[in-house]
Amino acid sequence: MKILVTGGAGFIGGNFVHYMVEKYPEDMIVNLDALTYAGNLETCKSVEDANNYKFVKGDIANRDFIFNLFEEEKFDVVINFAAESHVDRSIEDPGIFVQTNVMGTTTLLDACVKYGITRYHQVSTDEVYGDLPLDRPDLFFTEETPLHTSSPYSSSKASADLFVLSYHRTFGLPVSVSRCSNNYGPYHFPEKLIPLMISRALADGSLPVYGNGENVRDWLHVYDHCVAIDLIVRKGRVGEVYNVGGHNERTNLEVVQTILKALDKPESLITYVQDRKGHDMRYAIDPEKLENELGWVPKYNFDTGIQQTIQWYLDNKDWWQNILSGDYQNYFETMYKEKGRV
Ligand code: NAD
Ligand code: TYD
Repeated sequence: MKILVTGGAGFIGGNFVHYMVEKYPEDMIVNLDALTYAGNLETCKSVEDANNYKFVKGDIANRDFIFNLFEEEKFDVVINFAAESHVDRSIEDPGIFVQTNVMGTTTLLDACVKYGITRYHQVSTDEVYGDLPLDRPDLFFTEETPLHTSSPYSSSKASADLFVLSYHRTFGLPVSVSRCSNNYGPYHFPEKLIPLMISRALADGSLPVYGNGENVRDWLHVYDHCVAIDLIVRKGRVGEVYNVGGHNERTNLEVVQTILKALDKPESLITYVQDRKGHDMRYAIDPEKLENELGWVPKYNFDTGIQQTIQWYLDNKDWWQNILSGDYQNYFETMYKEKGRV
């Protein structure tokens, strides 16, 4: 099979590329990525010379480029990870989220309709369901939970999901959608909570916790997300949505305290800063459909996964220090220092 993976120089796409290149030597993995601020070819370095791997630089929203690529490559399967993915950035500049997440997705879908594929898979997020109240721990997101987005990011992802499902109904395109909870693990860009806190704690910098730190996220190791996507693409039912999550809810404060403890750093580094606008309170996934239909069982729980991840950041300082010394630094200045958050 020839499989197009978009966004494979990013966090989850990069982990997925590693997983697929190693697991399926008989398949060809084509990684298409625009190399935005979040794309980093260093992430794919160890598979660069593999016979079943190829990198192509390009924008999923560039229609001529995408149609030419599909004509040349004749993909069997398309798995779309490419996206603008950071909520804080979507609050600053929503337009690029519409451009990449909505226009990019519909461009890929149009190419799939024209050139034919056996499966188009959309990598989506639990954020399309909005949030749950903290005082109702009995509530979880199921695939039937209504879409009720809070941020420009989640709105663009929900919009893309609706286009994907409409292309199944209208054009008979064989699609699937996965909606996963927050991921963590190797190659996570240090603007997101966990890698940001690890890198700042190692530098003895302040750790900016938004609001009171009581917001809850449901953390899943990126490896388990990759396994789930592979299962859904190969065995999941066409036209279906599958939620992905491992019941690992933690408050942001608990996550930060775990990181500080593992690195033997003092809690005095924690700084409570101005809250995010529209900040979702709690995400929590019910993964029963994926478990019952496809037999998915996560390998990591948060306690084992976070230790493995912290160790990865300790062992791979070059990877994230190169990022911190580049554009990311300007971003940190604008988002935190100029807004008086640190
Ligand atoms: P990321 O920001 O780390 O990576 C995104 C990648 O997409 C980057 O390599 C970037 O260069 C590329 N890209 C951006 N715009 C592009 C364009 N126009 N054309 C081609 N490539 C482009 O994101 P991530 O955290 O790896 O997320 C990947 C996907 O998973 C996203 O669709 C996201 O919505 C979804 N998701 C993420 C999480 C999470 O916790 N990170 C959880 C659930 C779902
Ligand atoms: P993030 O990693 O941006 O993921 P998402 O917003 O998609 O869930 O943030 C995870 C949680 O951590 C979220 O509740 C916001 C919070 N947060 C902080 O408290 N401080 C920070 O510096 C960042 C980046 C996030």
